[in-house]
Amino acid sequence: MKKISILAFAISSFPVCFAASPPMKSAGHVAVQPFGQTSDGQKVNLYTLRNAAGMEVTITNYGGTVTTVKVPDRNGKYDDVVLGFDSLQGYTQPANTAYFGAIVGRYGNRIAKGTFSLDGKTYHIPLNDGPNALHGGTTGFNKRVWTAKDVSTANEPALELHYLSPDGEQGFPGNLDVTVRYSLDAKNGLRLDYSAKTDKDTVLNLTNHSYFNLAGAGSATVLDHRLMLAASRFTPVNSTLIPTGEIVPVSGTPLDFTHLTVVGSRINSDYPQIKIANGYDHNFVLDSPGDLSKVAARVEEPKSGRVMEVYTTQPGIQFYTGNFLNGKISGIGGAYRYRSALCLETQHFPDSPNQPNFPSTVLHPGEQFKSTTIYRFSTH
Ligand code: BGC
Repeated sequence: MKKISILAFAISSFPVCFAASPPMKSAGHVAVQPFGQTSDGQKVNLYTLRNAAGMEVTITNYGGTVTTVKVPDRNGKYDDVVLGFDSLQGYTQPANTAYFGAIVGRYGNRIAKGTFSLDGKTYHIPLNDGPNALHGGTTGFNKRVWTAKDVSTANEPALELHYLSPDGEQGFPGNLDVTVRYSLDAKNGLRLDYSAKTDKDTVLNLTNHSYFNLAGAGSATVLDHRLMLAASRFTPVNSTLIPTGEIVPVSGTPLDFTHLTVVGSRINSDYPQIKIANGYDHNFVLDSPGDLSKVAARVEEPKSGRVMEVYTTQPGIQFYTGNFLNGKISGIGGAYRYRSALCLETQHFPDSPNQPNFPSTVLHPGEQFKSTTIYRFSTH
């Protein structure tokens, strides 16, 4: 009698165990399933990349968006650690202004007054963030349908996404041919290789806007995570979050994350830069720009033991603590609440087209833009 009830318990709990870790192990292949249809009738898919270790990432070609990232905790329990939705409607709903998991472009972060000059001509990008243009204007790369191709190698699943942004789209000059290749290595590294070409001088700043909570998407807060940013300087902002043009030391300020520090320990400080952004929403200037072998950022979650390290060839990282999330939108992990996730957006500096002091974001015909970012997961 006892034996039977144990067996019954084991059987009834099987689906739970099954859901806790990704089902099948495979490499060198991308699985495809339908994800929905846009209002103008374009069908989009959901692509699944899984490595031999069992890590699984899903990506939709709507916005080039990462929808889930399932990684183990220190006991081997898998959880989804990015905020996302299980259907296209989640992403297209008007209330979604957060760029969850998306590829951001043509110009990530803000351009002051949506205006810049290039080769003596002035360009205007639609304003969508008070007086400024944010993340490429009202219809950025996050709202475009990309073409997708399985480019897996024998050992690594890989998905190549391509988008041709026409000359004049959202006010930007030049036909811009953009490719983003997502791949998953055997050591739980999610790698993004970006490349782009133009036929006219243009400006470009590409990033991925994933929101991470290493305790699992939908967990209440990210303030208990510990963060290290290999950045001894940052670019302060004005009241509309446009850089002032200065590059200043983080030392002695609540923006000093040069050593692992609890994210929430200084987030409510009176330091003016924290007040302006209502938390962290700043561009950090990396100490070893362009060096993919150096850790640019490290995040640790104490309870699960999950760790994420970021490597990048980009010169900056936007560290954003989800200060504009308010719990009104719900996704796979439940309600996405205030400061319940953090973003580490590898990038060129915001408003560079208007800031002579910052590294250039101009791309010329005949050049190929290239950048790489790796998010690597482990436990401690
Ligand atoms: C910006 C934030 C913005 C968020 C979502 C971040 O990159 O810096 O100010 O609210 O993206 O759009």
